[in-house]
Amino acid sequence: AVRPDGKIAYRAQLLYFTASPEQIADGDATVYLPDGLLVVHDGHVAQIGDYQALAASLGADTSVVDWRGKLIMPGFIDTHLHYPQTDIIASPAEGLLPWLETYTFPEESRFQNSGHAARTAQFFLDELLRCGTTTALVYCTVHPESAEAFFEESHARQLRMVAGKVMMDRNCPDYLQDTAESGARDSEALIQRWHGKGRQMYALTPRFAPTSTPEQLGLCGELAQRYQDVFIQSHLAENTAEMEWVKQLFPDHRSYLDIYDHFGLLRRRAAYGHCIWLDETDRHRMAETGTLAVHCPTSNLFLGSGLFDFAAANAAGVPVGLGTDVGGGTSFSMLQTMAAAHNVARMSGHHLSAHTLFYLATEGAAQGLDLGGQIGTLAPGAEADFIVLDPQATPLLARRTARADSLEEMLFALLTLGDDRAVAATYAAGRLRHERSPSV
Ligand code: GUN
Ligand code: ZN
Repeated sequence: AVRPDGKIAYRAQLLYFTASPEQIADGDATVYLPDGLLVVHDGHVAQIGDYQALAASLGADTSVVDWRGKLIMPGFIDTHLHYPQTDIIASPAEGLLPWLETYTFPEESRFQNSGHAARTAQFFLDELLRCGTTTALVYCTVHPESAEAFFEESHARQLRMVAGKVMMDRNCPDYLQDTAESGARDSEALIQRWHGKGRQMYALTPRFAPTSTPEQLGLCGELAQRYQDVFIQSHLAENTAEMEWVKQLFPDHRSYLDIYDHFGLLRRRAAYGHCIWLDETDRHRMAETGTLAVHCPTSNLFLGSGLFDFAAANAAGVPVGLGTDVGGGTSFSMLQTMAAAHNVARMSGHHLSAHTLFYLATEGAAQGLDLGGQIGTLAPGAEADFIVLDPQATPLLARRTARADSLEEMLFALLTLGDDRAVAATYAAGRLRHERSPSV
């Protein structure tokens, strides 16, 4: 039996990133140990190195878990999704606005019920862990109860999650509206209760500009000013019909992004979903403020929203994360999301390497969220949120990865052919939180 205060060392192939492969050569951005040892103590990475070099120095209090043949890397970071939309994933509609009206808003009304919220949060978190996601930026609903239930469940599992109660005080059904004042008051109470409690963190969550009055966005900006280290999340420039609507509602603003800018909602730790219909001035402003653009490719393809321009964002210096955007997105799997991001870039003649995609889902997201060194890495001192990927998870993956001539080819096969089946195990804060059943 493992002593609770003992160290545990994991033997496997080990991989993490120290910089963006887009900025410097793959080799210099990547730490890859073909036979490595990851030593975990007290929920954190204590040491990492070659097995042969480290094994001899391990004390008697360290047990070794043998994951040889598998690949250990940091847990994935999903920077945009909606837990109350779990049960409406895969619902067809003619684009974003009809989808919101037909499926999303009615479904979200169920989350004023704390029991329903808690049960859905349980399933949702289990599903994230099955897919290897250990941190996510999560939208709740307008009901404070929905956020309360989510944080309770996440806290009980010791997961590092970022979440917030949605704010919306117009242009949505009455049964889903708060007011500028109540939205701000409820959000502040949740910040005080949950931001920094255990591993939980709060995100101010105005749904998107069309469903908030200027008064609400103003109060949200005041809270952002008062609580400098809370996160901000919203939607931006997803769909052309939405762009028209926003122009009518806010005729005095240069662009959609400019509305959020005006209310003080662009900064480090602010994450905007989609960012498809931007211009260069917008990209420059996002880069300058350190605001994260979240690319949600499965959602954008499913809802026909458009093609995110990764090359333009990257060239402008905009930090980029990947999001599943469940339930507009069609998969909880960040591997499937990476595959879709590759295909979207391909459609505009650009290549996204597997190195870049895995970076975006780990270290890149952590840096973009101002959580570098804490999550998204296996460097000593990091929180021990890591996953065990299985290059032989399916017959086809086994066949293809046996042929891989390089790490890049192996990673590319994993993201293209893999999904939850490729995740053999997920650890959070050093504890095993998911282990795939033996036969798939
Ligand atoms: N824009 C405003 N709300 C939503 C939502 O719930 N999903 C998506 N994809 N876009 C939105
Ligand atoms: Zn969304």
